[in-house]
Amino acid sequence: MTRKLNVAMIGGGFMGKAHALAYAAMPMFFWPAPALAHRKVLVDVTKDLAETGRQRYGFDEAAHDWREVVARKDIDIVDIVTPNDSHAEIAIAAAKAGKHIICEKPLARTGAEAKLMLDAVQAAGVTHMVAFNYRRTPAVALARKYIEDGRIGKILSFRGTYLQDWSADANGPLSWRFQKAVAGSGAVGDIGTHVIDMARYLVGEITAVNAIVKTYIGERPLQSGGFDQLAASDKSGKGPRGKVDVDDEMLTLVKFAGGATGSIEATRNAYGRNNFITFEIHGDKGSIAFNYERMDELEVMFADDPSDARGFRTVYTGPAHPYGGALWPIPALGIGYGETKIIECHDFLQAIVKGEQPSPNFHDGWRISVIADAILTSGETQSWVEIG
Ligand SMILES: NC(=O)c1ccc[n+]([C@@H]2O[C@H](COP(=O)([O-])OP(=O)(O)OC[C@H]3O[C@@H](n4cnc5c(N)ncnc54)[C@H](O)[C@@H]3O)[C@@H](O)[C@H]2O)c1
Repeated sequence: MTRKLNVAMIGGGFMGKAHALAYAAMPMFFWPAPALAHRKVLVDVTKDLAETGRQRYGFDEAAHDWREVVARKDIDIVDIVTPNDSHAEIAIAAAKAGKHIICEKPLARTGAEAKLMLDAVQAAGVTHMVAFNYRRTPAVALARKYIEDGRIGKILSFRGTYLQDWSADANGPLSWRFQKAVAGSGAVGDIGTHVIDMARYLVGEITAVNAIVKTYIGERPLQSGGFDQLAASDKSGKGPRGKVDVDDEMLTLVKFAGGATGSIEATRNAYGRNNFITFEIHGDKGSIAFNYERMDELEVMFADDPSDARGFRTVYTGPAHPYGGALWPIPALGIGYGETKIIECHDFLQAIVKGEQPSPNFHDGWRISVIADAILTSGETQSWVEIG
C-alpha cells in the first residue's frame, strides 16, 4: 500500500495554492506515487484566513498557530509557504520536532539565517528541500542532460535573466516584498535567486560576483493585510505611502568554479516582460537557449551538425525527455507552472521515502543566499566580491 504522509502547510497565499495543487495532482501524474501527501492542516495568521484556505485547498483542518501544529505527532511534513521572515523560525522548530521540510525560496533573508536552518535540519536528520521549482521545467532538466552528456562540450558562458513588470507601476502597493525586514532583499532574493539556482544547476558553483543593484521607486502606497497583492494598484496614488528599502533591479557578472563566465539580471520593473526567465549557454561544441514564456521548448545548436544545417533547432519536450513519461502523452500539449510544482512535490516525497536528500536542499538554499548577499555587497561596494 502507498505510504501516506500528513502535511501541515503554513501559509495559504499564492504559493499555498501552488503547493496544494501539487499535493492533490501529483499521484495523477506520477503513478505509482512514491507516497501520498495528505492535506492535513492549513495554518494562516487568522482563523478566517486559515478556514478559507482549508476549504479552498482541500485540507482536513484549519489552525492559526503554527507552533502548536509543527509539534503535533501526526504531522510528517511541514511545508513553509509564508513570507521570508518566518521561514527560519518555522523550519528550525519543525526540524527539532523531527518533521521533513519543504520551504519556499529564498530559503531565508540572509546567508547567516539560512545557515541556522541548514544546521537545524542536519542535526535533526530530516529530509529538506528548498522550492526552486523552475529547474524542474522539463526543458531545463533536458538542458542539464545535454550538458552532462557533453553535447555542447565545455561550458564557456551562461547568460540568465528573470524580468518581470508587476512592480513597475509606482502605485503598486508596499507589500512585504518591498520591506527588507520581511523579504530580506528585493529582486535579488525574490527572483534573482531562481536564476542563481539555474546557473548552479546547469553550470556549477559561483565563486565571484560584480553587480549593479538599483532601487527605482523609493516609496509605495501602504497596503492593508499581510499577503502580497502583487500588481494591485491604487491608481489615485493619493493614499499614504511608505518607504521601499529593497532593490528593484540587479545586473551582475559572475565567475564559475569550472572557469565559465556569465551574467545574471533580475528586475521587477521591466514593462512588457511578465515571467521572462531565460538562459543562453555557450559551450565549445554548441549552445542551448531557454525562455520560460515558451517553457515547452528548448533551443539547441550542435556545432558538429553539417554546415548546411547548422543553427538553432527547437526541441518540444514530451515523453522522451526528463519527467515526460509522467506528464502528457505527446510533446507540445503544453505544460505550465503547476506541473513544475507537481514534479517538485514528487521529487520531495520520493526523497523522503528513499531516505535521501533532494536537490535543491537547504545546503543549496544556503549557498544561494550567500551568493545573494555577495551581490548586494558588490552593489554597495562597486567591486568584485569573492564567495567563500
Ligand atoms: N517558487 C516560486 O516560484 C515562488 C513564487 C512566489 C512566491 N514564492 C515564495 O513563497 C513564499 C510565500 O509567498 P506568496 O507569494 O505565497 O505570499 P503571499 O503573500 O501570497 O501569501 C503568504 C501567506 O502566508 C500567510 N502568513 C504570513 N505569516 C504567517 C505566519 N507566521 N503563519 C502562518 N501564515 C502566515 C499570509 O497570511 C498569506 O496567506 C515566499 O517565501 C516567496 O518568496 C515562491
